[in-house]
Parts: sequence; C-alpha cells; structure tokens
Amino acid sequence: MRILTGLQPSGKLHIGNYFGAMQPAVQLQDQGEAFYFIADYHAMTSKSDADTLRTNIQDLAIDFLACGLDPEKATIFRQSDIPEVNELAWILSTVCPMGLLERAHSYKDKIAKGLDANHALFAYPTLMAADILLYDSELVPVGKDQKQHLEMTRDLAGKINDRFGENTLVIPEAQIKESTAIVPGIDGQKMSKSYNNTIPLTGGKKAIRKSIMRIVTDSTAVEDPKPTDGSTVIALYKLFANDDMMNQMIADHEAGGFGYGDFKQRVFDAYWEFFTPVREKREQLENNLDYVNEVIAKGADKAREEATRVIDRVRKAVGLR
Ligand code: ADP
Ligand code: TRP
Repeated sequence: MRILTGLQPSGKLHIGNYFGAMQPAVQLQDQGEAFYFIADYHAMTSKSDADTLRTNIQDLAIDFLACGLDPEKATIFRQSDIPEVNELAWILSTVCPMGLLERAHSYKDKIAKGLDANHALFAYPTLMAADILLYDSELVPVGKDQKQHLEMTRDLAGKINDRFGENTLVIPEAQIKESTAIVPGIDGQKMSKSYNNTIPLTGGKKAIRKSIMRIVTDSTAVEDPKPTDGSTVIALYKLFANDDMMNQMIADHEAGGFGYGDFKQRVFDAYWEFFTPVREKREQLENNLDYVNEVIAKGADKAREEATRVIDRVRKAVGLR
C-alpha cells in the first residue's frame, strides 16, 4: 500500500502538527510504502522571504527525522525536487470546475482572515491533488481540516478517469485519526500557528513552560472540585499521560484542593518527558546537516522514479504523447 502525506514548511511545528500529522505518519511507515514530503511550493502561498523558506524547509526535514521517520522505511522528499507535480496540477485544473475551488473552506478561511487572494492560494487544491495522485497514493493520513482537500482530490481523479480512462489515476482514501483529530491550543480553540495559541514541539524549557502556564482555565477556587469536561488542561494532558497519571489527574480535579498551576505543571512535566527523545534526536541532526541533506536527495531520486512513471501514463492517457 502506498501511503503519502505532506507538511508545509511554514515555521516551527507545534504539538497539534505532531499528533495530527507526524505521529500518525510515523506509525504508518511500518504498514506500507510511505512517501512523506516537504510541501515547499505550497508554503509559498503564505508570504515569507527566501531565507526564511530555506530555513523552514531544512527545519522540517530535521523534524521529520527527529520524530522518528526512518529513511530506510519511508521516502522523505522535497515537493519542488519533482517539478512534474506542476504539470499534473495543470492537467487536473483542466477538469476542475471553478465552483469546486470556490467552495474550498481553507481558501475561504484565509480570505476571511485578510490574506490577499492570489491564484496560487485559490488553486491550492489542484496542486495538493497532484501531490497525491502523482505517486499513485492509496492512503493519505491528514488532520480533519484537510478532509475537504482529500474529497476534492478524489473528485478530480474521478473526472480524469471518466474522461480519459478508468486506470489513469489511482483514487486515494483519506485517513483521519479521530482520537486526536483536533488538538486544542492554550486558549481552547484548535491549536494553530495562525491563532497564536501553540505549544511548540521543541524549544527551550522556559519558553515552553511559559506557554503551558498560559493555558486558559476557569476561576474555580483552589479548594473546590474542578470540572473535567471541556477542560483544555485535561485534553492536553491526555496526549502525554499514561492511564495512571490520567486517573490521578481526574481524581485530583474531582477532589478539589489542587490549583490549576499545579495541574499545568503536571502537563509541562509530562510534555517534557514525552518529547525528550525528539528533542535529543533533533540536536544530533542539527549537528549533522550533511546526513539530512543526503536523505532528502535520496528521497528525491526515489520519488522521481515513481513520478516519472505516473506522469508518462497520464500524458499518454490525455493525448500529450
Ligand atoms: P496550522 O493550523 O498551525 O497552520 P497546518 O495547517 O500547517 O497547521 O497543519 C499541518 C498538519 O498538522 C495538517 O495535517 C493538519 O491537519 C495538522 N494539524 C494542524 N493543527 C492541528 C491540530 N490542532 N490538531 C490536529 N492536527 C493538526
Ligand atoms: N495541505 C496540507 C496542509 O496544509 C499539506 C499538503 C500539501 C498535503 N499537499 C499534501 C497533505 C498532500 C497531504 C497530501 O497541511
């Protein structure tokens, strides 16, 4: 089974990205032939200068490896190393109704937030569909927010197949992990770098502790029992804590006598321990960038082989060859 997913190199990863995208990707590398890529063309839809993009691409390559992707099992590559993806995006755009793009939540959300409407942002779903279809992907693990993009991908692949032959493109399935579908941010909304409510995946102890201490809570007095339903502290703790720790946390909420500062400290301690291996691996890789670059270069070779095969098939099917 071919598994594929991509992440945008658009700044430091947060724990929402980890639980929503990285962790499922790492778990899946044992279950099929995994292709994971750095979506650098996509990242250009949010403005950044060239040096920042370069740094973010490298950072994401390091994060992939630090989080446990094994280049012996999974192919890790950079989207722009395979420019054929733009050709497939073009071909897909010729069967893509305007209405389909106009209905895209992610585009509408970004416009509502005041981003300039440019063509790349509008056409994002056709490039994303090409990312997936260029590698005959069968399973695409993503967060809930990407569900519509996957539906569009299936839709576009279906249109190509209807018009040019059933076996032109493989129709992929989305895999959305319900248990960690949406990680809340410190304000209780979905964690997202655009909401300024993130807990970073790696970073200095002091800064991370500070962001965890800012988790929004109610104002129940220390001595009183505290609500567990809808609690952001509990929802975040659950990501790192084992069953015993979790039961203790709930019992202490129900009993009263503990302040939120105490609970947040437990969240921090559990966070810190949970991510220690990732932090250590990251440090090693930062000091061995040649290795990281080599992994990405090898990944590109492998991805190109696959992409060439698929794009040739598509060119023939549509009549370009
Ligand atoms: P952000 O919202 O911070 O900009 P991205 O849109 O770049 O994050 O998301 C990258 C990946 O991480 C996607 O697969 C997305 O579904 C996942 N993801 C992002 N935020 C969360 C979250 N709060 N909970 C679960 N998954 C998330
Ligand atoms: N749109 C995804 C995001 O913002 C990133 C992405 C680009 C992707 N191409 C993809 C994810 C293909 C899965 C498959 O998170």
